[in-house]
Amino acid sequence: MPLSESRVLYIDDDEGLCRLAKRHLERQGCELTYALSGAEGIELARAEPFDLVALDHFMPGMGGLETLELLMALPSPPGVIYVTGSDETGVAVAALKAGAVDYVVKTGSGDFFELLTSTLHQALATLRLRQQKEQVEQQLRDTNVQLEALLHEMNHRVANSLQMVSSLVSLQSRRATGQEARAMLQDVRHRIQAIGRIHRQLYTGESFHAVNMRDYLEGMARDLTGTFSSENIRRSIKVMAQDASLPAAMAVTLGVLVNELVSNACKYAYGKEESGEVRIRFDLEGADGYHLRVEDDGIGLSGMNDGLNPKGTGLGSQIVTAMARSLGAKHSVTSEGKGLQVDIYRAPSSLPPSTLPETASAVDSTS
Ligand SMILES: Nc1ncnc2c1ncn2[C@@H]1O[C@H](COP(=O)(O)OP(=O)(O)OP(=O)(O)O)[C@@H](O)[C@H]1O
Ligand SMILES: [Mg+2]
Repeated sequence: MPLSESRVLYIDDDEGLCRLAKRHLERQGCELTYALSGAEGIELARAEPFDLVALDHFMPGMGGLETLELLMALPSPPGVIYVTGSDETGVAVAALKAGAVDYVVKTGSGDFFELLTSTLHQALATLRLRQQKEQVEQQLRDTNVQLEALLHEMNHRVANSLQMVSSLVSLQSRRATGQEARAMLQDVRHRIQAIGRIHRQLYTGESFHAVNMRDYLEGMARDLTGTFSSENIRRSIKVMAQDASLPAAMAVTLGVLVNELVSNACKYAYGKEESGEVRIRFDLEGADGYHLRVEDDGIGLSGMNDGLNPKGTGLGSQIVTAMARSLGAKHSVTSEGKGLQVDIYRAPSSLPPSTLPETASAVDSTS
């Protein structure tokens, strides 16, 4: 909007100056209304909107700064040019801090009106830029809302599809004739569920791209407890995890890995007639580092059960190694005395992934 089409309000108790300003600006085609006090100016600005207000500092009664505060509190405040005396830079700074777009020094000569006009021009340009910035920001906010809705929908569909695939695998496993085939199909089902749970959490949780590890691991522990426990023999899976979130891609990889380790502990650590405990610990370190430990108190790795002669297909260890490598994490397996302990450690990006924080590794599968 050019100055010639804008509505300007001049607030100054000096009527002579107001009249001169009106004449000068109306020669430029601009409509100028004046008010001889702060209170009158506020009343006019409340009644009809002005694009710009030139506001004098020294006025009897309500002073310039007080008037400025009330102008700024209007539902759509005008752009304010603060008019000060020549030696009042502190006042100009206070006015700018309080929301004035610019200030102009009252010189007492004809130059003042030239200066006022050019400052009004600049103020209009500044206001236009501010408006454009606000519009762009609003567009960005709208786009973000749309993208989040899309992401929500996508996670919902992926989780539903994975649930369907998992159910199909389950149906197939019930039809399988051999014990081994049935077990393999059940393992596949758990792997699919570990991934599906991430997508479910992404559309039901607070964030669309980060997963709360405690919630996720507790959900997985509940499901696996149900799967591997029977009426008399219980697999008690305990989760000790920080209430911390990880990016979805990292969480899904860790989830698949934990599923393998916990399934192994449930299947092999304890005898068929024996109950036992499996513990999952997860601690965040720095912004992107973490320490994951899965441990049990079972038979551990020794003698015939050295892990090199897998009872199943041996795919679990390969998955764990590959997942740890893709995460840039150190992977160590310890089996000294009772039970088996697997550590996955990723140093925060500021630290080199050199050593595990605790415990020596009996079988080091470092990537
Ligand atoms: N927590 C544990 N306690 C005792 N033995 C274990 C434990 N974890 C793994 N093992 C041993 O290590 C072997 C290798 O495990 P891995 O996960 O690689 O294969 P699997 O479980 O036999 O087969 P798959 O994972 O393909 O079902 C297991 O067969 C088992 O003998
Ligand atoms: Mg396994």
